[in-house]
Amino acid sequence: MARKSMTLIALVSRALAFPAWVNEDVMARALSSTNSAWTEGLRQLSLQDPLGVSRGESNCGIIPCPSFDEKDAFVSITGEHEYMAPTESDIRGPCPGLNAAANHGYLPRNGIASIEQTVAGLGALYNLGPTLTTALAVYAVLITGNPLEGVWSIGGPLPTDPLTSALLGNGQGLSYSHNNYEGDASIGRNDIYLGGGDAHSLNVTKFEHAYSVGGDEDRYTMDKFRQHFGSVQQESIATNPYYFSGGAFGPFIVVPAAYNFVINLMSNHSAEEPSGYLDGYNFKSFFGITGEPGNFKWQRGQERVPENWYRRSSARPYDIEDIPIDALIGYLGYPNTLLLGGNTGTVNSFTGVDFNDLTGGVLNAQTLFEGNNFACFTYQLLEQGIPNFSTGLLNDLKPITDLLNSAIGPFLGGLSCPQFGQFNTGIFDHFPGHSYSPTGPDTNY
Ligand code: HEM
Ligand SMILES: *[C@@H]1O[C@H](CO)[C@@H](O)[C@H](O)[C@H]1NC(C)=O
Ligand SMILES: *[C@@H]1O[C@H](CO)[C@@H](O)[C@H](O)[C@H]1NC(C)=O
Ligand SMILES: *[C@@H]1O[C@H](CO)[C@@H](O)[C@H](O)[C@H]1NC(C)=O
Repeated sequence: MARKSMTLIALVSRALAFPAWVNEDVMARALSSTNSAWTEGLRQLSLQDPLGVSRGESNCGIIPCPSFDEKDAFVSITGEHEYMAPTESDIRGPCPGLNAAANHGYLPRNGIASIEQTVAGLGALYNLGPTLTTALAVYAVLITGNPLEGVWSIGGPLPTDPLTSALLGNGQGLSYSHNNYEGDASIGRNDIYLGGGDAHSLNVTKFEHAYSVGGDEDRYTMDKFRQHFGSVQQESIATNPYYFSGGAFGPFIVVPAAYNFVINLMSNHSAEEPSGYLDGYNFKSFFGITGEPGNFKWQRGQERVPENWYRRSSARPYDIEDIPIDALIGYLGYPNTLLLGGNTGTVNSFTGVDFNDLTGGVLNAQTLFEGNNFACFTYQLLEQGIPNFSTGLLNDLKPITDLLNSAIGPFLGGLSCPQFGQFNTGIFDHFPGHSYSPTGPDTNY
């Protein structure tokens, strides 16, 4: 066993306070450098002690961040990165991480970005990894953006472009990407049906619920947010007749990932806590909230990077493997949050569908968690969310789909994924929340 993994094992065991029975060999495999060993080892650990793994996870992931390096973690919010509230014509949307990035010029301040600008800006501000950022930005360009110009909007519709409109319609932006990108049971935004088509404005009551999980210790963790995700889902089932969490990349992956992003990407880092900690002060600033519990105010469009905030280490960017790993730990630790289906038109009518039916028999609720299937399934959902990705009908888009392939191809290639056919999304047709997909008024934020 390589010396490096011994050190990592020691680190991780300490951080996770693993019980004595945890097999060193499993740990070694979990932490060796190939992706497939990573997820397989983690899966085994999670199967043995799912709650323990969730509770033990640091704010920097399952492998804690190395010691704090102030120079590396420093984030400028002066000069070109000075905070500026958006102007009337700038676009902001449902994602506080992107809104804050635009308010500090880490993304173009008008809220319309190219793939390259997204990778550079979110890398510099948050250490969001280049492979994951490319995949997320490509998906945004293809399903809600302008694929001919290679740009996407972090909020409302893009300015009309006659050329693209003829081919694909006008890009509606993240704010109106319901069930493709944006989904129900979000941390702070209303379910789209309850919001009357607005799933991008923050609901202060929902934020206050999320804020309260920090408790007296004023600390937010992966595990607390996983529990909170479960409560928000239950509230959606009880209040939204159109609640839907079907098998698409948005509702099934992006929504839980957003909870994990708060902890992994908004935490402050220090010499005392190199893996980071998140307190209410930082949480509020990134979400554009002022005031105290009971009289919180959302300052629309004013999400800010706090002064003296230090990002996660460049040695541990949050990248392509982290989304499925964190979602998998969540779904294994809290099986009740694994919801594939929706309400059927009345509240409290949640009906689940079979993974087996969705995947044409390739996966079921058990095999979904075997080997690297969950990671494979995650990015298969992403690819299948892109219209005609595989049929090659959209030839003009080849440069962009090629970029996606070059980003996630090597990762998936290392996982020995099962052969998926086209998912049978027809099984969702009878859920009213599946087809509810309002387009936006031209409000910018
Ligand atoms: C290209 C990169 C990104 C894209 C395309 C993206 C997209 C989205 C979308 C579509 C949503 C709505 C999901 C929902 O309905 O719950 C969302 C929410 C969210 N995103 Fe992002 N995001 C990106 C990067 C980030 C980063 C870097 C962070 C953190 C620093 C972040 C944090 C969040 C949070 C916390 C929410 C939930 C907000 C709420 O419910 O109040 N995202 N994002
Ligand atoms: C905000 O969320 C709360 C709790 O989820 C809900 O009861 C309320 O109706 C929402 N408010 C608005 C204005 O949508
Ligand atoms: C981040 O942590 C450092 C070190 O403890 C501290 O000096 C700084 O004020 C913190 N920043 C924020 C925004 O909490
Ligand atoms: C996508 O492909 C399907 C079948 O492969 C076809 O029926 C559909 O018309 C195509 N859509 C577009 C937008 O080309």
